[in-house]
Amino acid sequence: MTTATVNAQHHPVDALQTRDWAPGSWRQRTALQHPRYDDPEELAHVGERLSQLPPLVTSGEVLTLQHALADAQEGRSFLLQGGDCAEAFADCNSETISNRLKVLLQMSMVLVHGLKQPVLRVGRFAGQYAKPRSADTETLDGVTLPCFRGDMVNGVAFTPQARRADPQRLIQAHACSALTMNFVRALIDGGFADLRHPEYWELAWVEHAPLAVEYRRMLAGIADSMRFMETLAGPIDGCARVDFFTSHEALLLYYEETMTRRVPRQQGWFNLSTHFPWIGMRTAALDGAHVEYFRGIRNPIGVKVGPSMQPDALLRLIDVLNPHDEAGRLTLIHRMGNAHVATGLPPLLRTVRAAGRRVLWVADPMHGNTESTASGYKTRRFDNIRGELEQAFDIHAAEGTRLGGVHLELTGEDVTECTGGARALDEKDLSRAYKSMVDPRLNYEQSLELAMLIVRKSGRPDFDERVLGSGMLKSLAPVAAAV
Ligand code: PEP
Ligand code: CO
Repeated sequence: MTTATVNAQHHPVDALQTRDWAPGSWRQRTALQHPRYDDPEELAHVGERLSQLPPLVTSGEVLTLQHALADAQEGRSFLLQGGDCAEAFADCNSETISNRLKVLLQMSMVLVHGLKQPVLRVGRFAGQYAKPRSADTETLDGVTLPCFRGDMVNGVAFTPQARRADPQRLIQAHACSALTMNFVRALIDGGFADLRHPEYWELAWVEHAPLAVEYRRMLAGIADSMRFMETLAGPIDGCARVDFFTSHEALLLYYEETMTRRVPRQQGWFNLSTHFPWIGMRTAALDGAHVEYFRGIRNPIGVKVGPSMQPDALLRLIDVLNPHDEAGRLTLIHRMGNAHVATGLPPLLRTVRAAGRRVLWVADPMHGNTESTASGYKTRRFDNIRGELEQAFDIHAAEGTRLGGVHLELTGEDVTECTGGARALDEKDLSRAYKSMVDPRLNYEQSLELAMLIVRKSGRPDFDERVLGSGMLKSLAPVAAAV
């Protein structure tokens, strides 16, 4: 199988049809980060079953998201992408799902208000069940077992039974994704995200959080203004609703292949397990299975870009994944680390800009800043997360490119996984509420603090979270237009 030929000319029909590609053509390539299944027949059987099951999203929604991402590319909106590092089957419950949604909604309101721009909300959920790992095995007290690769593959418990790669888990992952999606859709359709009822998004455990007070004052102002507008102009239903899209790392290609479908009256193939799949940093090799799979689907796609990415390699990747330079097709999510972003990012921005390629640049300030404490906790310092994000904004400004979004790992649960932030959590606090199975996540306060930082760094000098309650009417029009 050859990679797509580079073709800078735009051929609208060609753009929808990918030559020498099939949903399973990735199998001819090296598929990193895949488990070894001990019963290929069972795997094939599960694959057939999954191919019969209904998809989770529609092609119409996927194309709507692509248009919205094209807007973000053009500087007309800002992408907020966030959620758990890894979803767990056990966390497929109403409270965890709605808490995560609440944090994302609260952050997006801070952004909408501060940036005076639409915010595109993309959850890292309803399918985030497979994880890349740095080693294939784990050894404990002299016993070596396969590593945990996410609930879609095996169990986290350190036993041979749990660590066996079990194909039936693929079906459970589809079911949990569908349950999550269904609940999120029902909440949104039922008015949960209605701007006039921000009290729906309150998290019980943060009543006394210092930032929550400021946030509440801001929201009360927005809600007042909405009511005022309604008394003057009548119901403004269209403005009060928000959209939500989903995303996950499309790592386990056995699963993604089964969700890759043709759709009546559309050309090409869609991955209908999610709106917005992305390729992880460890699986972005040009000649690897993941790039082969992604080049053939019509969804908007993301690629994580780490500090070892060379500018010419990035250009080749862009050529393969977006040969016709389609708007909204390709999002590059850079995750360099606070220590490397200043050297790693500028050459990439310069090269892509000089080549005139259309991409949406997004910062993931989480994954380059992971470290382990002496007591064995995987953590991230809030100062490093903030530092990378601040630098990213400055570097983009200096290079004449636009940072059009952020990609964050966060949760609505009361966790202590990242140190620092408004409450100055330290290493001793980690043991109090460390719940993540994989990477450390931002908690509610740390998430809101980052949202406020984004507003400040996006060049809104008039923004001051201390006086958010005032001057609301002045800012209402753009807010209403933005949600
Ligand atoms: C992740 O997003 O959880 C992840 C593993 O990221 P990366 O591929 O950037 O390391
Ligand atoms: Co992660």
